Amino acid sequence: MAFPVHRPRRLRATESIRALVRETALAPDDFILPLFVCPGEGVKREIGSMPGNYQMSTDEIVKECAEVASLGVSGVILFGIPETKDETASGGYDDQGIVQRGVRAIKREVPKLIVMTDVCNCEYTSHGHCGKVVAGEVDNDATLEWLAWSAVSHARAGADIVAPSDMMDGRVGAIRKALDAEGFARVPILSYAAKFASCFYGPFREAAESAPQFGDRRGYQMDPANGREAMREIALDLEEGADMIMIKPALPYLDLIRQARDRFEVPIAAYQVSGEFSMIMAAARNGWIDRTRAMMESLTSIRRAGADFVLTYFAKDAARLLA
Ligand code: PBG
Repeated sequence: MAFPVHRPRRLRATESIRALVRETALAPDDFILPLFVCPGEGVKREIGSMPGNYQMSTDEIVKECAEVASLGVSGVILFGIPETKDETASGGYDDQGIVQRGVRAIKREVPKLIVMTDVCNCEYTSHGHCGKVVAGEVDNDATLEWLAWSAVSHARAGADIVAPSDMMDGRVGAIRKALDAEGFARVPILSYAAKFASCFYGPFREAAESAPQFGDRRGYQMDPANGREAMREIALDLEEGADMIMIKPALPYLDLIRQARDRFEVPIAAYQVSGEFSMIMAAARNGWIDRTRAMMESLTSIRRAGADFVLTYFAKDAARLLA
């Protein structure tokens, strides 16, 4: 029996009834804000392709984090813009590196805010690839050592969670082993388990000054066409000891967030990446789309697909709206 007995519109008649039957809710503590930390003092340089996002020195980052915490946002994830880059990504695993200094400053001033670190080499290598380049190729096994050193160094600085994003095979296991050996058994790993070779990282690479100087990342990041392989990547990372997993980007990969939700019991994160953010901002600036509604609709969709939390450049604005 269908219409006229069944009229789904009955439950859409007023905002009160819509709120009563709403299936997906957003809250400020669903969000993690990505931040870019750079050397210097009093530095706050806006990133051209990402309005409202900045490269910030540690003193400015601390101020930003105080505001982030006051809005009820769960935490931040730090990316570093080092003074210098080299062939061995040494700035990435230096205890005096830019991310390590940033973590220490934030944990000192805003201790309750969760500080995650992105564990990768592309911001620190002169060639911009995510690992050690040997004969024109990124060498998987040689890169694992750098990643393990970086994660340990971040943990030593006080990072609450480390998040490897390089897509080398075996890196979660290598990082877990190194953290445990150095006395950081309590530090969780959020693995960027299914990270795709996506054009939507374009604005980020301007922000982090990390575009590869030759070739691309398709030899290590995933083919956007592959969903089964994403489930395999997640399963492998969990076997290696990942505590939480991430799908990235978010909106073009909602099907995989849902599949992962149905298959795995661990917390799932999704990264609404720079290009997803910048598309909404650009369309809004042209008057082609309502910025606030596009922000909330996209975040709601990512949560509805099954993500427990979202890394998003909208974290502060969305939290403000939900307050
Ligand atoms: C580092 C890293 C990237 C992003 C997060 N971690 C860039 C890349 O893989 O090229 C992208 C985030 C974004 O676009 O917002 N490997």
